[in-house]
Parts: sequence; structure tokens; C-alpha cells
Amino acid sequence: MTHFLDIHKTDPTALRAIVDQAMVTKNARKGLSKATPDADQPLVGHMVALIFEKPSTRTRVSFDVGVRQMGGETMVLSGTDMQLGHGETIADTARVLSRYVDMIMIRTFDESVLLEMAEYADVPVINGLTDRTHPCQIMADVMTYEEHRGPIKGKKVVWCGDGNNVCASFLHAAAQFEFDLTFTGPAQLDPEDAFIGLARKAGSRIQIERDPDVAVQGADLVVADTWVSMHDSQSTKERRHNMLRSYQVNETLMKQAKPDALFMHCLPAHREEEVTSAVMDGAQSVIFDEAENRLHAQKAIMRHCLGK
Ligand code: CP
Ligand code: NVA
Repeated sequence: MTHFLDIHKTDPTALRAIVDQAMVTKNARKGLSKATPDADQPLVGHMVALIFEKPSTRTRVSFDVGVRQMGGETMVLSGTDMQLGHGETIADTARVLSRYVDMIMIRTFDESVLLEMAEYADVPVINGLTDRTHPCQIMADVMTYEEHRGPIKGKKVVWCGDGNNVCASFLHAAAQFEFDLTFTGPAQLDPEDAFIGLARKAGSRIQIERDPDVAVQGADLVVADTWVSMHDSQSTKERRHNMLRSYQVNETLMKQAKPDALFMHCLPAHREEEVTSAVMDGAQSVIFDEAENRLHAQKAIMRHCLGK
């Protein structure tokens, strides 16, 4: 069974093939309307369940459109509407869904839900975000960087703010795609040691720099994300904002990165909080290409999972 649970759990050769495949299918669709099927229809006769226990715009729409472009069908399920949200075990849910659908994408809170789903499902399971990681996002981010600037290997990525789930998948990607990552943020919000250790063991230079002005020197890519993630209690909002305010990505900070540095944000963004509108809408920002590439990257991930 080929699941897509995390970037560090997928072989680097397969990851490279996913990014390359995503670029090929993106280019092949140039000029086509969104509802036009791909020339290649690997998902004909396939039903894909998309389960959401948290809100989503990009993940929901890009998976749905991606499956349809490849000839398959989807059903979008909300966790709270399912028996899963009312006491049925994850293992039983996984076994039942495997009798109806050919693949499961799940966005959930606790990573253990994803892992149990994968353990008991007889069909591939894809991680559509947990409290700990967001691998589909970072596959799209790697694709986006390479689309604009060529190979990401050896480049310097600077993560500004909270060492959260998206940051964790960036650390996994640093290990697998061989780039360097500098985290700049308050010590209380450092990424987990295990994520840092894994990337360092793989040979990536992972640095922690409290001063954002120092961190972005020589950066090829600057990345921000929300200061309050979906799994964070709203009661922590004020404290988080106070800790993170000095890590805002603004024009002054971007000027200290390399002149050709890109800016990325997985979105949704909170304008004038973690990033200013001037940066989001500026010449270095590739945020909407990044959002579009979720579609292309995930199509390649689904093909990888189904061996197509
Ligand atoms: N970036 C991302 O995963 O967006 P959604 O929460 O809208 O799916
Ligand atoms: N870190 C954010 C990412 C949203 C796509 C969250 O988990 O809410």
C-alpha cells in the first residue's frame, strides 16, 4: 500500500518523480479550461473520499478538481457528519471506507487519526494536514520554487514565525530535497527537536536564529504562515501575536534577503499580521502560483499512491 503520510516517509526518488510529474501535467494543461479532462485519465473508475475535520479552501477544491481532471470521482465528507465524529473507531471507519472508495485524503487534528486510518485502510491514505505536518503543501512549494528558480538543492529557505505543522514539513523536505533551512522565531515556538534532528542527520544545514534581520541574509526563499493555526486555542492569540510581532515579513525584511529571493505563504494569510500586503502582492511573491500548484502536485501524489 503506498500512502502519502509525510515527506520523510516517502523515498527521495519518488518525491523527485512527483515534482517532475506535476510540472509535466501542469504544462500539458496550458490553455485548457479547468473542467477539461487531462489527456491522460488515470483515475477513471476511481472514487476518492476527501475527509475534512478542519476547514479548508485550497485542499478541498484542489483535490476535488484534480481527481475530476484525471477522470475520477470524489465525495467530500465532513468529520462531524460522519460516525467517526460520534464515537465510531478510526480503524472501523478505515475498513468500511476501503470497501467503497479507492483512496482516502484526510485533514484532521491529531496525527494518530491519520496513522490509524493508514494502518487499517486497504486503500492509499493521503495526509491533507494534521496538527503536526502538511506534506502536500510543501510538495507544491518545492515545485513552485523550482518552477521559478530551478533546483532547490543547496538553496537557503528562511521560515519566519511559528515552528508549526507547515514548518515541520519544510524541515522534512530540507532533508529529502537537500536544501538548508533557517528558522527565525521565538524560542517558545521552535519546531520540534525531532524534525530538526532528522533534517540535520540528512545533511541539511538547519539553523535557529532569533534575529529575523540576521536570519534572512542570503535567503533564496522566505516563508511565513499564520501565527495562530487551526489547532491552536484562540485564547493563545494575544500571547502568540505578542511573541511573533517582530517576525512579520515586510518589505524591510525582504530587502535583506537575496535580490531574487521569493516569498511564499501556504495561505490563508492574515494581511498586516505575519506578512504585509506589500510583500504578498509584491514582485517577489509567488503565493498564487503556490496555491495553484497544490492542484498539480496533488495529482502527481495521487498517481504515485495508485502506482499510475
Ligand atoms: N494551504 C492550505 O492548506 O489551505 P486550506 O486550509 O484552504 O486547504
Ligand atoms: N498552519 C496552518 C496552515 C493552514 C493551511 C494551520 O494549521 O492552520
